[in-house]
Amino acid sequence: MRVIVERDFPSVSRTAARFVARLVRERPTSVLGLATGSTPLGMYQELIRMHREEGLDFSRIVTFNLDEYVGLAPTHPQSYRRFMQQSLFDHINIDGRNTHVPDGRALDFEAHCEQYEKLIDEAGGIDLQVLGIGADGHIAFNEPGSSLGSRTRLKSLTAETLRDNARFFGSIEEVPRLAITMGVGTILESRQCLLLACGQAKARAIKETIEGPVTAQITASALQLHRDVIAVVDEEAAQLLERREYYREVERAQSLLEAGEISKLLPHKS
Ligand code: F6R
Repeated sequence: MRVIVERDFPSVSRTAARFVARLVRERPTSVLGLATGSTPLGMYQELIRMHREEGLDFSRIVTFNLDEYVGLAPTHPQSYRRFMQQSLFDHINIDGRNTHVPDGRALDFEAHCEQYEKLIDEAGGIDLQVLGIGADGHIAFNEPGSSLGSRTRLKSLTAETLRDNARFFGSIEEVPRLAITMGVGTILESRQCLLLACGQAKARAIKETIEGPVTAQITASALQLHRDVIAVVDEEAAQLLERREYYREVERAQSLLEAGEISKLLPHKS
């Protein structure tokens, strides 16, 4: 896993946006997997800025969101569809027909989840999946104990997630108890994953995800099995990482390589 430690939320957001923008420029028909929550918000703002000021073109981009609460209409203020419209889609030139968020009001959940997977397949698979992480190590709504091979399905949210998300609702009682979520297996099939984490509350989850054993109790740890994951975390989220200095060293080497300065990495001849 490539680990990039940035100073704070704004620098995490800019770095993450640069990865997304590079792909959008290189392959304008890319399929992006998107996340909701507080963490990717700065990245979305930066992408909107790039669209407005630099002409970053989303007209042929296709997106699939990770998850949606069950029981909320797309227009509900807390629905993830609404979140995506307000945080990104309404401010860029994406074609609304190319944006996909699971439907929290689907009548036949099983059929809807199967159809969602099929749509991802038909689009050619996800090129880059953006991920946040829960304090309990979840990715999407794959709560601790979720199968690491799981596919898009209905999931009960844990008490911890309900508490964490209550801040967006009037009270904890109003937080939906069920969600439709891509599975860990679905996420692992993306060609590349971009994991973002900011703040002290994520430090334990990040430590276990990157340096702990692969376990269904920390579903993000399954990303260790993926061949192309970039974790962009701020200092606070990185504070428990034991190999922090090594990750920084790898990034310094990476920058020299990108600048064509490989000679600075070779052993000195005596
Ligand atoms: C959202 C999602 C969740 C969040 C996670 C972190 O689509 O899939 O896994 O990424 O709960 O949320 P924030 O970023 O609000 O801390």
